[in-house]
Amino acid sequence: MKVRKAVIPAAGLGTRFLPATKALAKEMLPIIDKPTIQYIVEEAKKSGIEDILIVTGKGKRPIEDHFDSVPELEQNLKEKGKHDLLRLVEQTTDINIYFIRQSHPRGLGDAILTAKDFVGNEPFVVMLGDDIMQDKVPLTQQLMERYDQTHASTLAVMKVPHEEVNKYGVIDPGAQSQPGLYDVKQFVEKPDIEKAPSDLAIIGRYLLTPEIFDMLETQKPGAGNEIQLTDAIDRLNQIQRVFAHEFKGDRFDVGYKFGYLKTSIEFGLKHPEVKDDLKAYIKELGKKLK
Ligand code: G1P
Repeated sequence: MKVRKAVIPAAGLGTRFLPATKALAKEMLPIIDKPTIQYIVEEAKKSGIEDILIVTGKGKRPIEDHFDSVPELEQNLKEKGKHDLLRLVEQTTDINIYFIRQSHPRGLGDAILTAKDFVGNEPFVVMLGDDIMQDKVPLTQQLMERYDQTHASTLAVMKVPHEEVNKYGVIDPGAQSQPGLYDVKQFVEKPDIEKAPSDLAIIGRYLLTPEIFDMLETQKPGAGNEIQLTDAIDRLNQIQRVFAHEFKGDRFDVGYKFGYLKTSIEFGLKHPEVKDDLKAYIKELGKKLK
């Protein structure tokens, strides 16, 4: 069956970016001129996803407005002949986006469970907003291509420094059935550094079969006393195969301050409008830094 649907959880409180996120959804923080969530939606679109469900919560209204049309603004840009800007504004309205609110955030697994009716009996992808991925083929599409061959759930993983494994879900890898595609013996959420089964961490892209909902409905709280998606996937792996696909492209973690800053600089160095000035500025600044 074709993978057509994506779920993007966006109900988190964004406490790492307080006070900026007191009244602003963290998914709306821009990298240069685009909210982080737009990068995720664009990856979905490029991968061939047709329908997206965004799981929101209190204070996330601006996300809905961002993906809606703004007739007065569009009319104004048209009248002034600002066609490039008009195209930019219209880009965010030509995809089917649905919204659901998670009223009591109880963890990532619980957020995904709210997508049960939207997903129905189809395979689907989960895309986490803190990770912006770049590669020749979008990561979501890479997972979809794996699925075309295996018809099994497949998670994206990436090698991370050993001392950081406790921030992630980590896999205990088995054999590689194809280069870069691992069988998985176990999925562990936020393991102790000494006990982690590998340095292969789950990064924010998952392709899941609908049976994951049966697991989520009965999932007990795990790490951080939250309903963990990783725990439900580990149980799914007991009844049907779940694979891990190793991502070899670039991952930008915008979920913490320094990662957000680094991403802004790297994307700025590629942005046609600011790249030359930014490069010159960084060189100049580098001379002053000891
Ligand atoms: C979540 C997942 C974790 C995954 C991580 C990737 O954790 O629970 O398995 O490795 O995203 O960014 P969080 O970052 O929400 O703590």
